[in-house]
Amino acid sequence: MALSSTLSRLNLIPRPWLPYTVTTLRALKLKPHKPQLLRPMWAPLTLSSFSVSAQIHRPQDDNLIVLGIETSCDDTAAAVVRSSGEILSQVVSSQADLLVRYGGVAPKMAEEAHSQVIDQVVQEALNQANVSETNLSAVAVTIGPGLSLCLRVGVQKARKTAGSFNLPIIGVHHMEAHALVARLMERELQFPFMALLISGGHNLLILAQGLGQYIQLGTSIDDAIGEAYDKTAKWLGLDMRRSGGPAIEELAREGDAESIKFSIPMKQHKDCNFSYAGLKTQVRLAIESRNINAEIPISCASSQDRRTRADIAASFQRVAVLHLEERCERAIEWALKIEPSIKHLVVSGGVASNQYVRAHLDQVVKRNSLQLVCPPPSLCTDNGVMVAWTGIEHFRMGRFDPPPPAVESEDFVYDLRPRWPLGEEYAEGRSEARSLRKARIHPSLTSIIQASLQQQH
Ligand code: KG4
Ligand code: ZN
Repeated sequence: MALSSTLSRLNLIPRPWLPYTVTTLRALKLKPHKPQLLRPMWAPLTLSSFSVSAQIHRPQDDNLIVLGIETSCDDTAAAVVRSSGEILSQVVSSQADLLVRYGGVAPKMAEEAHSQVIDQVVQEALNQANVSETNLSAVAVTIGPGLSLCLRVGVQKARKTAGSFNLPIIGVHHMEAHALVARLMERELQFPFMALLISGGHNLLILAQGLGQYIQLGTSIDDAIGEAYDKTAKWLGLDMRRSGGPAIEELAREGDAESIKFSIPMKQHKDCNFSYAGLKTQVRLAIESRNINAEIPISCASSQDRRTRADIAASFQRVAVLHLEERCERAIEWALKIEPSIKHLVVSGGVASNQYVRAHLDQVVKRNSLQLVCPPPSLCTDNGVMVAWTGIEHFRMGRFDPPPPAVESEDFVYDLRPRWPLGEEYAEGRSEARSLRKARIHPSLTSIIQASLQQQH
């Protein structure tokens, strides 16, 4: 793959959308931390060795500058964010050409693509921010969930950078980052709040009670909504260069959403879990029965053919979003029972950049006298800002690892968490419908943090 094509989006992300100045950066350089006082947050696997250094060291400073690195799936992203909330830079290199070629993410290819661009992406983020590594307070990096091969590239880069410049390192949960980036946007957004996280790999409904304290109200029992958008787009012969979601959103505007009666998933299950595998099958059958040839790109289709494809896109989107709406209604009910003071529903993750999704969820939220908080699209899809910001939130609480050694031994085993639940399941929300793959490699982020807090008391 040509490097130039991989880097095509590198400069397309606009400069920081929040006003900032870089005049005082030199003065912002933090005093060196005292590594010997710090204890690792992201200790490998065992709960007993995990501890939070909150009482030992609490960097409250509003002038922290954190580099965030994200490589959990197909986007190589880096950003520099200040703890005051200023985004100093944001760089994303996406693997559009690979997505088109394979119709999805192929882990080995994705790993290779990350490896090819990671150095340039990080360097570009530092350049755009007008800082060097010596100005940084810490490095934050996604350690899970995601594809191991891909996560490794980011973690390796983060540890190398942190090791060379004696910087603490913060391991970040990808889905927590999708939720917390809303607090960067909306500084009024206080815990507790609800979040619906909708991406290519995950559907999550959570109640966020505090930093690192999440109750999982619902999750996907099979495919996530983004996967359903992507496959529908592929089968309809749409242009996948920006991933399937935006292509479906666009085409659906031309179609009749009532023309095909797909059934809403999991109607009979009165819980907050999600399922999109069945809807995918319904869509595939509808496409097959209408003899749509995905080999013929939509741009070359006859007007009748285009109309049929648009009707399928619109009908799919309507039902996909109705499923979200139903689950959110119930989740709001549950969440208000647990935390009556909730005022906000955050909607984030790649699919949250969809205007139809936003508009419909806004109605649900308003009916329940809550407010919708949606980050701008560039912060909904995978990005380094959300990782840097989540790093800042944990860093302030004293949760981080000490700087890695400048030269890491060849056989060092990285702490990667490809399957890593965010919170503990809401007991009353369990349902027999859950055929969830149970293999848990790691305890949830929330249980790790709770265990460490108990250790301190
Ligand atoms: O959060 P994200 O960038 O990566 C993951 O963590 O998976 O989400 C990517 C997903 C893809 O499935 C993509 O098709 C979907 O988000 N997506 C959208 C839109 N933009 C991105 N889905 C529907 N409408 C959109 N406008
Ligand atoms: Zn994501």
